[in-house]
Amino acid sequence: MKEDFLWGGATAANQFEGGWNEGGKGLSGGDLLTGGTYQTGRRITPNIEPDEFYPYHLASDFYHHYKEDIRLLGEMGLKCFRMSITWSRIYPTGEEDKPNQDGIEFYRSVFKELKKYNIEPLVTITHFDIPFALCKKYHGWYGREVIDLWVKYARTCLEEFGNYVKLWITFNEANTPFNTSLGVRKNDPLLAGGEQYGDLRMSQGIYYEYPEDIPKGVSVDQRRTQAFHHQMIAAAKLIKIAHDMNRGFKIGCMTSYIPLYPETCSPSDQWRALQHEELVTYATTDIQTRGAYPKMMLRALADKDIYIHFENDDEDILKQGKVDFITFSYYLTSVISANEEHMATGKKAHGGLANPYLQTNDWGMSFDPTGLRICLTKMYQRYQLPIIISENGCGWLDKMNEDGSIHDEYRINYVREHIHAVQAAINDGIDVWGYMYWGIIDIVSASTGEYRKRYGMIYVNRDDNGKGDFSRRKKDSYDWYKKVIASKGEDLD
Ligand code: BG6
Repeated sequence: MKEDFLWGGATAANQFEGGWNEGGKGLSGGDLLTGGTYQTGRRITPNIEPDEFYPYHLASDFYHHYKEDIRLLGEMGLKCFRMSITWSRIYPTGEEDKPNQDGIEFYRSVFKELKKYNIEPLVTITHFDIPFALCKKYHGWYGREVIDLWVKYARTCLEEFGNYVKLWITFNEANTPFNTSLGVRKNDPLLAGGEQYGDLRMSQGIYYEYPEDIPKGVSVDQRRTQAFHHQMIAAAKLIKIAHDMNRGFKIGCMTSYIPLYPETCSPSDQWRALQHEELVTYATTDIQTRGAYPKMMLRALADKDIYIHFENDDEDILKQGKVDFITFSYYLTSVISANEEHMATGKKAHGGLANPYLQTNDWGMSFDPTGLRICLTKMYQRYQLPIIISENGCGWLDKMNEDGSIHDEYRINYVREHIHAVQAAINDGIDVWGYMYWGIIDIVSASTGEYRKRYGMIYVNRDDNGKGDFSRRKKDSYDWYKKVIASKGEDLD
């Protein structure tokens, strides 16, 4: 692999940072998410309940362990660290005129530490996170007011951290709402706890405890789509600002890419798969790379009686704010059928149908490295823009031996095969800037709120009952990835 390939690891503040009520941070939407399981999902509570467990409150306690964590990543030889910033640490309610200096100082210290080890930060400005005050007052991203509040916050990040950070991502997986409204995931157990919450609770800050704020007659999907539009406008505004600043910033988008294979070679299954991919995956990336909504998406929304409200200059704003690079998360693939009965009664995996050719883990995640090669190829051939794989990984129940070792050969195997896929794509001429292994240090699962669904190459002593001292420990995969990075991807054994 090329000298400057970004061998990376990824995290997100809500799932990793902790320090929920320290350093002047305000309450975030995620602070009200309880723990859960694959079967039950998570709950949102309107207030903090004293006897409830909120895994994001302390998460992996990066807030107090960042020096140790970054040292470990530095020793590993990591080239790039993807992390996100907590909005309510910078603007506690989202509406202050001046940022919270303690929050600024915290992130500045993190970036200085990364610089010490020559680790390039890749910073997500918003990863499923919003000050809770904005959820209450504006109904999250449904409120247009939130656009400029976010742009103020994001501009502060560029100004304050711009000496350290050049690579930015606006919104994590901005297309998530369409998985549920235009896609197939309606019956996904990961959305248990209510389709009424779905992924919105995380990505759009729309909390249904305050229905009085929602104009009557506005459907769930309408709200979702309008909130999505506001994120697209906010992202485009920010990109224009960042480019005008002329400080060498590169801004990317981030799409959740879950390819769906057609169940059979019947033309109707083929069409269904293509349609899903166009609407759920590509439409969002189209908007951010081409600066306009694809007609097919507007048409599909209209078919569902969903109409986006555009203000006068929205179309121009989108045109002026196109991304410099593309990122996507890739975990798994699933299967789709045009036969609705099949979809309803067939064996499920991650919202779609199970694939008999693929193995799955305890959370129904399929193992499909070829799927990553497919994603890279399709994305690049469509947009011809550089790509960073901003998330790839899998959760497992790690077992610690008596001597403290953790032999996670399954993780090594997973990453090895996915790196092979990346190499194959690069050999095909695809411009891949980097690979971020997701949850490189153990973090809380976003969908289930569990800690036992571990992704990390570094173990964190923490469990689902809130026990553990947060001490860190290298798993076998740590040394393996270190070797891979040192050999520039040559030594994958
Ligand atoms: C991605 C999200 O969709 O999937 C991450 O961007 C999340 O935040 C990751 O953690 C893995 O999903 P989970 O539910 O296992 O944490």
